[in-house]
Amino acid sequence: MVVVGKVGNGCKFTPTTNLALLQKHQHVCGRFQRKQFSLSFICGLMLFALGLISLFTGHVASHLEYYSFKFMKGALSSKLNRHPPINIWKSKASKLYYGCSSRDPNFPHAVRGRASNGYLLIATSGGLNQQRTGITDAVVVARILNATLVVPELDHHSFWKDDSDFVDIFDIEWFINSLAKDVTIIKRIPDKVMRSMDRPPYTMRVPRKSPPEFYLDQVLPTLLRRRVVQLTKFDYRLANNLDEQLAKLRCRVNYHGLRFTKPIRKLGQELVMKMRKMATRFIAIHLRFEPDMLAFSGCYYGGGDKERNQLAEIRKRWETLPVRLIF
Ligand SMILES: *[C@@H]1O[C@H](CO)[C@@H](O)[C@H](O)[C@H]1NC(C)=O
Repeated sequence: MVVVGKVGNGCKFTPTTNLALLQKHQHVCGRFQRKQFSLSFICGLMLFALGLISLFTGHVASHLEYYSFKFMKGALSSKLNRHPPINIWKSKASKLYYGCSSRDPNFPHAVRGRASNGYLLIATSGGLNQQRTGITDAVVVARILNATLVVPELDHHSFWKDDSDFVDIFDIEWFINSLAKDVTIIKRIPDKVMRSMDRPPYTMRVPRKSPPEFYLDQVLPTLLRRRVVQLTKFDYRLANNLDEQLAKLRCRVNYHGLRFTKPIRKLGQELVMKMRKMATRFIAIHLRFEPDMLAFSGCYYGGGDKERNQLAEIRKRWETLPVRLIF
């Protein structure tokens, strides 16, 4: 396949973080090796876990996959003769995964009304998955700030140019009610506040992966002063490393709070039923099969030198990615 066309702007990368993760994984693998575990088995598990994660996080995980594939390939080629291929479908370790999104009874209730530090608006960005991640983070950020979250508006401009609103895609009542104990969410800013606020609302853009302290130090004072703050281009703006209660809240939003609307769930259910009739095993693919995504995947797709040159050109954008990949 020859890769042509405009490079999408939907992909956001944090190579340093991913490299750090890779190093961590290598470290873990190394340790296991000393304990006589099979390196390729552990890497297989790692890949499986990444596969699971990618179902929910889309292209973020695909970057991790790229590194783990690269790493796996090295690990496998040295071990392949001694170990048969891993059957990820029969992994016993999958039993060790469990959900951890339940609410701790001691986790304080959301602040309401006058106790709220202000109204938080966010502008989502990117494709639907990226926007979904942003919405999840926005709930946690509202919690960190003791702010009232206004139901986010979806991004109608970038990439998909889809004019669906939140209410068309997600079950808005469920979103508000199921998270009510944790964060106060409202559909729109009350008229009274609207009349008194700057128009358009005061906007801020926070750096990628900002820790909670950043929000408390930099955003809270502005929120208290202005009452309404909009965080723009809100994608991957919250650090992954959160305290346990906030991490659980993030899971509650992601796996429980954000539910598709009934027609979408119905269609999804129909697809699942049809697929189940056809097979018992499924894999997920990245839906946006486009040049920048292909470049980052680190794979060769059979398009000869033309493809190699074009992908090599795109790969130059990321310092940590080798321009010529040996696959
Ligand atoms: C948020 O409210 C809790 C009480 O529920 C309080 O302990 C915490 O300090 C508040 N944080 C901020 C940033 O206002």
